[in-house]
Order: sequence, then structure tokens, then C-alpha cells
Amino acid sequence: MTRDEKFKLRRRTTRREIWSRVAEIPNLPIKVALLAVYLLGAVYVQSKQETADAFMETLILPAPLVEAVCDNLLRSYLLAGVIVFGVLLIYPFDRKMVEDQFQSIGLANSAGIVPRLLRKRRDKDHPRVTIWEFNNPSLPLKMWEDKRLAIEAALDINIISMKYGKSKGRIIVYAVPAKDDLPEHIEWKEEYLSPDSFVLTLGDGYIGPVTVDLAKIPHILLGGSTGSGKSVLLKLLLMQALYKGAEVYVADFKGGVDFPPAWHERCRMCFEEDDLLELLTGLADELERRKRLFKKTGCPNLDEYNKVKGTHLKRLIFACDEVAEILDKSGADKTRKDKLSSIESKLSIIARQGRAFGIHLILATQRPDANLIPGQIRTNLGCRICGRADSILSQIILDSTAAADQISKEARGRFLLHDGTVFQGYWFDERQFERSG
Ligand SMILES: Nc1ncnc2c1ncn2[C@@H]1O[C@H](COP(=O)(O)OP(=O)(O)O)[C@@H](O)[C@H]1O
Ligand SMILES: [Mg+2]
Repeated sequence: MTRDEKFKLRRRTTRREIWSRVAEIPNLPIKVALLAVYLLGAVYVQSKQETADAFMETLILPAPLVEAVCDNLLRSYLLAGVIVFGVLLIYPFDRKMVEDQFQSIGLANSAGIVPRLLRKRRDKDHPRVTIWEFNNPSLPLKMWEDKRLAIEAALDINIISMKYGKSKGRIIVYAVPAKDDLPEHIEWKEEYLSPDSFVLTLGDGYIGPVTVDLAKIPHILLGGSTGSGKSVLLKLLLMQALYKGAEVYVADFKGGVDFPPAWHERCRMCFEEDDLLELLTGLADELERRKRLFKKTGCPNLDEYNKVKGTHLKRLIFACDEVAEILDKSGADKTRKDKLSSIESKLSIIARQGRAFGIHLILATQRPDANLIPGQIRTNLGCRICGRADSILSQIILDSTAAADQISKEARGRFLLHDGTVFQGYWFDERQFERSG
């Protein structure tokens, strides 16, 4: 950018700031006042018609436009008002602002050309969402993604998603105004329970409830630093699974402090390694048994098998709140290492084959240590959810630093799903659960 261009940019920005301060004054009174001034102006203009006529007499050869205006003073005034209003409506104030902002944040190609705003409209299906369409001066989508936070600040929006338009020369951004951020606290209500066979509801996103269908994505990996809301979300999911008739297994090596007695009555709890190995061996055996049953009937999955046989084989869910703690082999002797390896291998079998047989894993961790969850298990946990986290943990869970970049340090219960969806997890009060049992 040349000095001259920078100067002009700064001048336009200052002018806009002044205007935005004026615009911040509550809108309605200003509009009413402007309309009142305009109408008073009309009365005033009408009262000056005679003066205009007298003025006309003094002209020897009036220009046709002057003559027309003087003859119809009021009509000319009203017409001018309509034209000014129309210009205000049509003039692309937004476009200029967007170009300046993109210039400022350096969203430009190597020739210094910034994206231009082509259209901005409401999403018909989601009235809160605005769709911004830009012409894209040869910037890769990745560059837009990398500048996501700067774009959000520049345009005062929260971005839901970005994608190429009809061609790569267009970029479509779905966003909500920054002031329409998600609430910090959304209470769970029983009516949020999904009616579909094995769909669990996670929380509210910008365009509605966010869900995960275990029949399609069978296992969940949940990450986030301490206090990010993992345990609350984990229990929210387990509670829904119980309501839907699943059998729930919970490994909690903290001696059950995270799971009060109401859970112990409803779930099969497990507090130490030997018991865990036995439990997982049982689940892996059940998987083999179901495999044989399904093969005999030629059914591809649990729902199908239950339909054909008229039975109700339950979905089985194994949950573990601090899985990295459990799998950590450091300092273990040979026997314990072997035991942990067996636990890993059972988890791995379920991760690889559990989907068709209705056996699912929900594993949570807060430790930013990739080696603790073996790759074979990790790649099979298709549903990744990360709350507040540092970039290393975010990388482990989501394969990107997105959670570290997008979830604020104070956030509780705010999560990012593997597909980029941000949501506020429902707050689930265990005491409610205790009473309902
Ligand atoms: N969905 C939520 N909405 C609002 N606050 C939440 C939510 N989830 C958790 N919190 C708050 O954060 C605190 C820590 O949550 P917790 O699930 O124990 O975190 P973690 O298991 O990640 O350490 C909770 O006590 C609660 O105050
Ligand atoms: Mg916890």
C-alpha cells in the first residue's frame, strides 16, 4: 500500500468511526426526528411557493429545470427526498467498509487486491444467519480459514462456516452478528431428547441443536483442559443414552467422585485396572457373539437385526472420563504394562468394529500427549469434540489448533465439533437425574 493509500484508508476509517458513533444512538428516535424534520421541511417549502413564483417573475429567460422546480416547489422537494433515500439504500457503504477492513488485516493477494463483497443476505432457513458472498482474488480457502479470527473482528461477526461458491472465484461466509453470540448457559430440558434411534444431542449451535448419530459415527473423543466442561458433557450424553435404553459402562479411577451414587445404580461402574480389563474383554466377546448372530441372519447392523428378529439387543456404551490417565504406562512394571496393553487392544477392537454391533466408546481426555491414545484407537473415534484447550491438545483432538484459536479462555461448556461447528453444551444438573431415578 502506498503512503497516499494508507492516508486515505485512515481518513475513511476515522469518518466511519464518527458515523458509527452517531449510528449507535438508538435508531428509532433519530429516524423519527429525521422524518419530522423532512415533513416540516415540506410545510416550509410549500409556504415558500409564492416567493418562488415572485422569483420566477424576475427572471427573463429561466432555464427549464429552474422553471420546473419553482413551479412545483413541494413536488420537487418530495422527489429529492425519495432520491436521497434511494441512494442511501443502494449505495454500498458495506462494500467499501469490507474492502478497507480486509486491507487492514492483510487479506489480499500478492498484487494487493482484496476480496470484494458481492452480496449480503439473510439465510431463508436460519433467520439469525447472514450469508456474505465475496469475489475471491485467487486466495486459497485455507488463507480465509487462517484469517478467520481477524475476519470475525473486522466484520464484527461470528463465522459459522466458509466455503467456495459456484467457483473458486467466489467465497461464501455464513455468519451471525458478534452480539448474537451463544448464551453461556443453556439448561437441558427433557424435550431436547432426540426421537431418532441413536441420536444424542450435544448442545445449541448458531443454527440450531447440534447432534451426533451413533449409528453413523459410532465413537466419540472428547477433549478440553480442566474446567472446560468435559465431565458435564460426558454425563449429558450418558444420561441420554440411558433414557434411550442403552447399557452404560463407566471407568472412573478417581474412586467414583465424578459419578455420584445415582449413576452407580444405573451404570456398570469400574474403579480399577483388573476390573476394567475384565469388563472390556466382556464387551469384546459380546462383539464377537453379535458378529456371529448377525452373520447367521444376514443383517448388516444392530437396528436391522432387532427389526428382523423382533428382539431388543441393547446398544452398549463404554465411557471413560480420563482415558489418558488410564492408558499411561510410564513407571509401570512388566505385568502392569502387559495389562495396559491388553486394555488398549480390547479398546482398539471395539473402536474398529463396534459400529455395526452397537458397541460404542466415549472417551475423554485433558492431557495434551498424543502417545497416550494409540493411533489405531484415535483414528476410529470419528466424532471429535474439543472444548477450551491449548494448541497441542486441540491438535490431538481435532487435528488442528482451531479449539485453541476459537474457544475463549473463560469458556465453560463451549465446544468445537470436528466439522467446525461451535456449540454451547447443555447444562445438565445431576440432581435432576438423581430425583428422576
Ligand atoms: N454446559 C455448561 N454450561 C455452563 N457451565 C458449564 C457447562 N459445563 C461445565 N460448566 C461449568 O464448568 C465447570 C467444570 O465443568 P467440568 O465438566 O467438571 O469440567 P472438566 O471435566 O472439563 O474439568 C462446572 O462445574 C460448571 O460450573
Ligand atoms: Mg472432569
